[in-house]
Amino acid sequence: MSAHRDEILKELGLWPVWKLREPPAADPGSAGASPAIVSQSGSAGALPAVDALSGSAGASRALPKRPPSAADAAPVLPLDARAAEIARMDWPQLKASVAGCTACPLHKGRNKTVFGVGDEQAEWMFIGEGPGADEDAKGEPFVGQAGKLLDNMLVAIGLKRGKNVYIGNMVKCRPPGNRNPAPLEVAQCEPYLHRQIALIRPRLIVALGKVAAVNLLKREASVASLRGKVLEYQGTPLVVTYHPAYLLRSLPDKAKAWEDLCFAVETMRDLRSREAAPI
Ligand code: URA
Ligand code: SF4
Repeated sequence: MSAHRDEILKELGLWPVWKLREPPAADPGSAGASPAIVSQSGSAGALPAVDALSGSAGASRALPKRPPSAADAAPVLPLDARAAEIARMDWPQLKASVAGCTACPLHKGRNKTVFGVGDEQAEWMFIGEGPGADEDAKGEPFVGQAGKLLDNMLVAIGLKRGKNVYIGNMVKCRPPGNRNPAPLEVAQCEPYLHRQIALIRPRLIVALGKVAAVNLLKREASVASLRGKVLEYQGTPLVVTYHPAYLLRSLPDKAKAWEDLCFAVETMRDLRSREAAPI
């Protein structure tokens, strides 16, 4: 286990850690079932083993039941186990899981979760950093001033919210005061985004701004240094441009954002033609 992940788990109070046990080797009856989750130490502070899909069905698997408390409302699995659960979800399960998610501290301040919006078979996926006040109130990404600019950017390249485009964010709950999401918040939320991408299978991701770009690419870099290149997020081609909220404050960079959109359109053309070409 990496030191980085240990840090995240400790910050979340998920310690001592729970480990995924290999599924029993020869038990045809349990094919496809979730792997069992066992406590390394069995100590009282450890997490209950709860099936994230059902909310409770798995609770009796590993530990005796404790009396319910507020903290038990939606127990949180360790990161690897959560990611594995989420990676198996279909759209309704994913939406329900996000709606009730308490996996990171951002859930405490939210009014609405902001799942994402658009065409679930889109070729284009635009990813921002996280909901602001308007999005938190409405439960939809990019509905404030920055959202209006994003809609205009989409129109400029012949796209429209909801049609061949999906819009999402790194985190689904609003960071207080619009601060950047913290690494542990991104780490807890990323399995949702990852599953959305796996279900949508977009041809191209457009990362909006530094927070999205850096967290998707897992390396520190400026937007200026990342623009104009075809990068990738876990096998999906990705390009980077400025965040529309930044463009509202920095009009000169709008011209650069336009260049980036043209580059994205060219990249999309390339990707399509590559697929159409005979092998
Ligand atoms: N900024 C973002 O990054 N995402 C939103 O949904 C709104 C504003
Ligand atoms: Fe869950 Fe993501 Fe909201 Fe955190 S930001 S509570 S991980 S949905």
